[in-house]
Amino acid sequence: SSGENTGRGALIVLEGLDRSGKSSQCAQLASYLESQGVAVEAWRFPDRTTAMGRMISSYLSCQTDLDAAAIHLLFSANRWEKCSLMESKLKAGTTLVIDRYSYSGVAFSVAKGLDLDWCKGPEAGLPAPDLVFYLDISAEVAAARGGYGGERYEKLEIQKKVEKVFKSLKDTTWQSVDATQSIDSIQSVLREESVKAINECQSGKQLMQMWL
Ligand code: TMP
Ligand code: MG
Repeated sequence: SSGENTGRGALIVLEGLDRSGKSSQCAQLASYLESQGVAVEAWRFPDRTTAMGRMISSYLSCQTDLDAAAIHLLFSANRWEKCSLMESKLKAGTTLVIDRYSYSGVAFSVAKGLDLDWCKGPEAGLPAPDLVFYLDISAEVAAARGGYGGERYEKLEIQKKVEKVFKSLKDTTWQSVDATQSIDSIQSVLREESVKAINECQSGKQLMQMWL
């Protein structure tokens, strides 16, 4: 690269079912990019460190119950409370690699029976990812990997429904990656595509808004 960092950072999102391998791929991708001299941070949603995040965490661990609409809005608000920080990081040239985003927000709530357009509503206007990797694995294969924790959605029946909704959400920013490949094969696809996206953002690609 030419040295001076003038363009914005890229917003890169990993999505997929529970046990699809998102978290380890995110961490590996962020440290690879860092080793290449890219300013990068690894984030995740839900961000359980905030007050809203703690409410979400308590819901997910079944310590509290909330109406489907209420938890949907909390997940969304948990992204909005990070919106200005996301925008300022990107503008300052930092690339964000995020484990789950609005697509998870919509997929899980629609799987529970909420209306698709209603679910997209509160997400509209958030910064839109430049690149989304969907780690594609069937709910059955993911479940067979074992290691589901005891959290609320970590069950085959709901994961099957979520898988269907995810696939209906695919847009032009999505790249599906076969998540049954080796960790290294997946990682090399992620690295190559991320570098391309980062270069495009560096050279002036505009940041878009989610679902607008
Ligand atoms: P995590 O396992 O990645 O921490 O996510 C916790 C669970 O929350 C996971 O089952 C997916 C679900 N989820 C939603 O239902 N809505 C959202 O907006 C997000 C980010 C996650
Ligand atoms: Mg989980």
